[in-house]
Amino acid sequence: MLQDPAPPLPSAAAPRPASGAAFDWIDEARAARHRAGLVRTLRPRPADASVLDLAGNDYLGLARHPEVTRAAAEAAEAWGAGATGSRLVTGSTELHAQLECELAEFCGFEAALVLSSGYTANLAAVTALTAPGTLVISDAGNHASLIDGCRLSRARTEVVPHADPTAVRTALAGHHGRALALTDAVFSVDGDAAPLPALADACRTRDAALLVDDAHGLGVLGDGGRGALWAAGLSGDADVVATVTLSKSLGAQGGAVLGPARVVEHLVNTARSFIFDTGLAPASTGAALAALRLLRREPQRPARVRQVARELHARLTAAGLTAVRPDAAVISVRAPSPEAAVRWAAACRAAGLAVGCFRPPSVPDGISRLRLTARADLTDAQIAMAAGVVVATAPVA
Ligand SMILES: Cc1ncc(COP(=O)(O)O)c(C=O)c1O
Repeated sequence: MLQDPAPPLPSAAAPRPASGAAFDWIDEARAARHRAGLVRTLRPRPADASVLDLAGNDYLGLARHPEVTRAAAEAAEAWGAGATGSRLVTGSTELHAQLECELAEFCGFEAALVLSSGYTANLAAVTALTAPGTLVISDAGNHASLIDGCRLSRARTEVVPHADPTAVRTALAGHHGRALALTDAVFSVDGDAAPLPALADACRTRDAALLVDDAHGLGVLGDGGRGALWAAGLSGDADVVATVTLSKSLGAQGGAVLGPARVVEHLVNTARSFIFDTGLAPASTGAALAALRLLRREPQRPARVRQVARELHARLTAAGLTAVRPDAAVISVRAPSPEAAVRWAAACRAAGLAVGCFRPPSVPDGISRLRLTARADLTDAQIAMAAGVVVATAPVA
């Protein structure tokens, strides 16, 4: 068949040759990273894990559960590999609607909006709920996605000391008008929990809204894994909004904002990271829905993951390592330096254990750490092995 010739490109004079100088500054930045021991590299990840993985966030062991992976495959078969566009443009599948309905109901909120990641969920919530005159009060230990939400919001942000409701109260005292306090429910670096009831109380002195990122609480805390806000008796309250990720305890991918129906409707109309982003892929939506239903059916999983975290922590501290008592599934062990943390994580891997390695700039206080995540599907023998490896490979003080 005769094909139409491609239309000619707009004609222009040939550009002068590139000198490469535009990116010379990158070499200097790279050399500085090397000097500080802060180089990051990507490592290949085989499909069949040969090491015990305590680096990921698959807290409930659902990422490879057959019901979850089958639901992902069926959703892709039915709806295609991608969502094909923003849900406002190409429409919203019944899978998205079902997930939003069941997630809101499970966590005790009026409504939910599912987005392409927990990151975009935080950008959406912070930017849509603020305006230039709004005071945003942000915990110093908050996740990067909340921080980036503040940066995009054009509101005045006051960063307050970590887990300090009195500081929130003080920041609010001098402000008249709209205000929003932001906190992680469980802080991703040290695994400690925010004092949610006291924070809500501080907000209510000035009718401020409270936005809680429950990325690490969903599936781990609260009755049957309903999250940190449920545990605090705050879910569904008229002035509280939660964000969650579908990529940790639900083993899938994506994020959601949960709150009063009018907040969710406002986000659909104004949140740029929802409006201008392709909707959550059908496979991820189907997988998260299947994982949520599994979690409902098997409420012992959250209790087990908390028990595993306590057990790991007890073994590590009994051996003399410094680790914050875990309030959820994250166990953080201090390392003497970034270089030592990298070597320690590599030694663990060589001994068959994958652990996370947190270094600046991913840590707010500049202290490097190994980060282990508890999993509900670990056997007692695996817990003993994991703790044994971390202790045996620890840098000599
Ligand atoms: C506290 C917190 N919030 C948000 C996110 C972002 O979630 P996602 O990975 O789904 O974008 C993470 C992920 O690491 C997190 O730890």
